Amino acid sequence: MSDRYLAFANSAAGRRLLRTLGLPTPVRLERWLPGRSRTLDGALLLGGDGALLESLPGFAHKLSGELYADRPERFGLPCWRRTDDARLKALVFDASGLSRFEQLGELRTFFQPELKHLAPCPRLLVLGRAPESLDDPQAASVQRALEGFTRSLGKEVRRGGCVQLLYVGEGAEPRLEGALRFFLSPKSAYVSGQVLRLAPCAAQVKDWTRPLAGKTALVTGASRGIGAAIAETLARDGAEVVLLDVPAAADALAALAARFGGSALTLDICSEDAPARLVEALPEGIDILVHNAGITRDKTLAKMNEAQWEAVIEVNLQAPHLLTQALLQAGKLREQGRVVLIASISGIAGNPGQSNYATSKAGLIGLAQAWAPTLAGRGISINAVAPGFIETRMTAAMPLALREAGRRMNALGQGGLPQDVAETVAWLAQPGSGAVSGQVLRVCGQSLLGA
Ligand code: NAI
Repeated sequence: MSDRYLAFANSAAGRRLLRTLGLPTPVRLERWLPGRSRTLDGALLLGGDGALLESLPGFAHKLSGELYADRPERFGLPCWRRTDDARLKALVFDASGLSRFEQLGELRTFFQPELKHLAPCPRLLVLGRAPESLDDPQAASVQRALEGFTRSLGKEVRRGGCVQLLYVGEGAEPRLEGALRFFLSPKSAYVSGQVLRLAPCAAQVKDWTRPLAGKTALVTGASRGIGAAIAETLARDGAEVVLLDVPAAADALAALAARFGGSALTLDICSEDAPARLVEALPEGIDILVHNAGITRDKTLAKMNEAQWEAVIEVNLQAPHLLTQALLQAGKLREQGRVVLIASISGIAGNPGQSNYATSKAGLIGLAQAWAPTLAGRGISINAVAPGFIETRMTAAMPLALREAGRRMNALGQGGLPQDVAETVAWLAQPGSGAVSGQVLRVCGQSLLGA
């Protein structure tokens, strides 16, 4: 559904009027277009004092054609000096070396001079060490403090900018390339204010133009909306995709499968024989499992009947659990497999009228957290992706006032697109993304709802 406010804010007259009235002027976000290969169109500045920075120059030239360092004679890179017509597109600050409170000011010193002069849709990234990995209380506190800084900067940065914090574990440095290729590119257009932990992971992408080549993926609820976008994006990245949806969606499913060169599987994931049928339909097994199928039956708890409660728990939570379990037991989820559960920010923040839905989505987050340690032994990762307001049929059907509130109540002032969720899933599905497991990644434009 078209966002008329966004279109108006991006017209010359609209921008003038909204600024005069002091109203927000969301910008059109840059997104990854077919045929693009470079992560960044613009200058990338590397700075900070930690050991993590050392690992960046080895691959950073593949991300941007214009690389700068924050001081002279560093990594053989030119030192950044802002001129009137030169703007930074991305900044990466290694804060992993900060261990004293008085050093926190280095964050301000690094970012502040550039904030009013950034290129459109800039990407800002802070690197640190997970506080729980540090023995010294002050050092742990300083690293934890990075979260507050990152999330605040995400809410301040203008012109479609996104800010993230990555805590990089010892030995996980080689996985930074995959993470930066996602977080510094328009693939993460609607991801901001996020904090992720990277752990060592043996697998790596071999060909960055087709990072999922040789992999087979199953996507549930793939006949439309976010599921169709996920299937398309996984296929773009080289995966062979099996698209699953209810029998009633057979025609749409077959058409999409033909378009992406994948195969269609009609199955109600809640039917009693669904686990057995799924195992039978995947004789060769799969590498990537995306539980996207989901429903809403919104009512306040006072008015919700048993059927509304049960249907949502069954489709959104119980079925993903039973199907994953069946695939694992039958050995159909291969070593280095990637499981992604599509949750929702409702499952994090709660939402009136959605106690059933929020329960199911919070349960999915619980599944990712509970399963991650067990699956790690086989190199399998499992994560939840929590979309915020995404422009789909589901949100188009919302009452106008709620829809407008959902669109604007985030740092980017607009709804996301199915593609934004799909790009995030595609990144988590990559071999090197085994570095992330048992975590939740929100695709919500840094929604003001929830943490
Ligand atoms: P949608 O309603 O357009 O698509 C859901 C798909 O799941 C449909 O194709 C449907 O046929 C399929 N499905 C439902 N029950 C099924 C069953 N028993 N067996 C097999 N397939 C079944 O929804 P949309 O908007 O694309 O959402 C996709 C996922 O993203 C859902 O899990 C939803 O909860 C989640 N989500 C969506 C948000 C949004 O803003 N649209 C926000 C947060 C989460």
